[in-house]
Amino acid sequence: MGKFNNSINLLKNSVQFLYQQRGLHTARGMACSRFEYVKNYEQDDSILPNVWIVIRLDGKGFHTFCKAHNFAKPNDANALNLMNTAAVSVMEEFRDITLAYGQSDEYSFVFRKETNVFNRRAAKLLSYVTSLFTSAYVFNWSRWMSSKSLLYPPCFDGRIVLYPSDQNLRDYLSWRQADVHINNLYNTAFWNLVLESGLSNQEAEAELRGTFSADKNEMLFTKFGINYNNLPVMFRKGTVLLRKRVKTEGDGGLNRQLIVPHHDDMIREKFWKDHSELLGKYKPGDYVCAAEDIPPVLLSQIEKLNLDEDKGKVGENYS
Ligand code: GTP
Ligand code: MG
Repeated sequence: MGKFNNSINLLKNSVQFLYQQRGLHTARGMACSRFEYVKNYEQDDSILPNVWIVIRLDGKGFHTFCKAHNFAKPNDANALNLMNTAAVSVMEEFRDITLAYGQSDEYSFVFRKETNVFNRRAAKLLSYVTSLFTSAYVFNWSRWMSSKSLLYPPCFDGRIVLYPSDQNLRDYLSWRQADVHINNLYNTAFWNLVLESGLSNQEAEAELRGTFSADKNEMLFTKFGINYNNLPVMFRKGTVLLRKRVKTEGDGGLNRQLIVPHHDDMIREKFWKDHSELLGKYKPGDYVCAAEDIPPVLLSQIEKLNLDEDKGKVGENYS
């Protein structure tokens, strides 16, 4: 027996020796190593307190991606709703996002000033939002783009921008919304010249060079009978996602907090009055609509909710 114990001790000592040689410690001798100092090289990237945190994502090389996947020109409603659906997934995960704004291949997410998610660590936040958005985009592809195969993996870059004042935040969102107006008016004129008038890309570019908004509006109306203001509002204004208590009429009275797409003008004062919860005390307002008018991005949340309820999975999941 004594001989056996000696052998065991010898074995234990050998293992201990090997661990020490490799700079490791046995479970009894602490779970750290002489390598652990490298952790100190990680930088503290905590975001300042009390600032609006905006994360903006933008599709990488989407000019080529949209062409490869034959998106409708200049706006593909399904592709835009796919972006909106991916953004809803991000908002479902991060409840401290009070507003998200999307247009073209970009989406901005606004976090509450007081958020403490991931202890406000910038890299964690940015990488999580970017990867979740991207995977949700791919995950939901077939739902919106049913007849088209996804030919290669899309990717999005991301950045964090901090805004100290409410006015800065409003100006940021106004800037992004003015951008969609300028680009969409140009693109609508451009693609009508190419697709309807048969101009080459270069000829259409030349035709539009030096024109003002009023000229493009006039051209759309006189040449193509298009009143720009009658085009779908999602194309002209982009999509603002807001948390609202959704009350539907005529389907048994839905009353749930969900993420609702709006296409309002954020540059106007009215938007901030209508959605006073954004800058004031945060309590989502109401959104009332008839059952037959529910926008598709909201409808898919309601369908998911019904499915989960059928499976007995959720109660009041979104409040
Ligand atoms: P980087 O962002 O710098 O990688 O370049 P990008 O090619 O993604 O261009 P950018 O982000 O500046 O612009 C987005 C591009 O996506 C637009 O120029 C369009 O070519 C394309 N795009 C976005 N939405 C639509 C759409 O609904 N239909 C079509 N046909 N194209 C779109
Ligand atoms: Mg892009």
